[in-house]
Amino acid sequence: MRLPIRQVLEAADLAKICITGSHGYVGTMLVLSLLDQGHEVVGYDLQWFGDYIGKPQGFSPVKADVRDTARFAEAVKGCDIVLHLACISNDPSFELDEGLSRTINYECFEPLVVAAKAAGVKRFIYCSTSSVYGISDSPDVREDHPFVPITLYNRYKGMCEPLLLKHQSDDFTTVIIRPSTVCGYSRRMRLDLSVNILTNLAVNKGVITVFGGAQMRPNLHIKDMVRAYQVVMDAPKEAVAGQAFNIGMRNLSIMHIAEIVKGVVEDRYHRPISIAVQPMNDQRSYQVNVEKAKRVLGFVPQFTIEDAINDICDVFDVGGLPNSLTDDRYYNVKRMHKVWDALYKDAPPSKFDATAGIMSEIDMLRMVSAR
Ligand SMILES: NC(=O)c1ccc[n+]([C@@H]2O[C@H](COP(=O)([O-])OP(=O)(O)OC[C@H]3O[C@@H](n4cnc5c(N)ncnc54)[C@H](O)[C@@H]3O)[C@@H](O)[C@H]2O)c1
Repeated sequence: MRLPIRQVLEAADLAKICITGSHGYVGTMLVLSLLDQGHEVVGYDLQWFGDYIGKPQGFSPVKADVRDTARFAEAVKGCDIVLHLACISNDPSFELDEGLSRTINYECFEPLVVAAKAAGVKRFIYCSTSSVYGISDSPDVREDHPFVPITLYNRYKGMCEPLLLKHQSDDFTTVIIRPSTVCGYSRRMRLDLSVNILTNLAVNKGVITVFGGAQMRPNLHIKDMVRAYQVVMDAPKEAVAGQAFNIGMRNLSIMHIAEIVKGVVEDRYHRPISIAVQPMNDQRSYQVNVEKAKRVLGFVPQFTIEDAINDICDVFDVGGLPNSLTDDRYYNVKRMHKVWDALYKDAPPSKFDATAGIMSEIDMLRMVSAR
């Protein structure tokens, strides 16, 4: 079935979509799904974690850096929609080289938006994260909840949001999504995300180690993540322009996730799994409310955590995730160590002028909190 994107395109129902971060965990499954629906996709990515897509019909990979605005401006020509996913995508990887990470996750962001708009792109969808909320006691974190960014990754993901909204105009629709932690199988697999970590430990070690356990985290199946992009691409401009949406399925404590994993894996393999608890000072804890996505977009998740665990187990069963406890390709920070050693360790610091035409951080955080 082809996805109608009539809200973006006047007459045609197929789009040309540029995805940054196309070769990542989410990007890979998103590209394959959009190609399946007949869209043309430009995949802009440095491919740090490999290439699990190849070159199917309709797909144009561009192996390049999001900080190379001139190259991006060229790649985005003729595209109707940009989905911006590329970034250093977790806390430990970000902290490996804060200067480098800042240039990728934040400093190049507004130039990308400007280049996309100048190229005639009609809709720019930015993938932020629910972790911008940081810590909250509220059982109901809605989109207007203040950001409490307790890590640099959270902070810079949030600081891009107002930079995008500045460029909202009648012919350039800007939308932000704030996804929960994603789980389930992707051809470019990550085993450093909560449900995926715990499933790997249960299946391959028989012991699930939980750090802390009380922290609350919202979760989202990767198939629902992919569908959420499609829903936002197709939503009427008036409904989404300048808006942010929490996208999530179920808020659970890490201990509760471990218990679900234990139950699914024990039932499936008929052997006991134990849970070991270790102390932890991870303070990130929040529960998101996803009512707005349901009300405005009609988006209701269809897949469960149990589905994600079973999907991963199916792949383990056929040997599809070899060396899952050790291979760096499944673990962003391990792979980023290698990338950094090879490419960036001896590089001069960024020459990017962070003050040119960009608001102060305080201004931006104020804008975000006020929404
Ligand atoms: N995975 C999650 O649980 C989750 C949750 C909330 C939000 N997000 C957001 O979703 C997006 C995708 O996450 P993911 O899990 O697929 O991450 P990922 O790390 O698997 O993919 C990121 C991709 O970006 C590419 N990339 C990094 N720096 C680049 C650069 N300078 N130029 C070009 N490409 C570059 C990498 O090569 C990689 O393929 C990210 O923006 C992340 O912040 C992810």
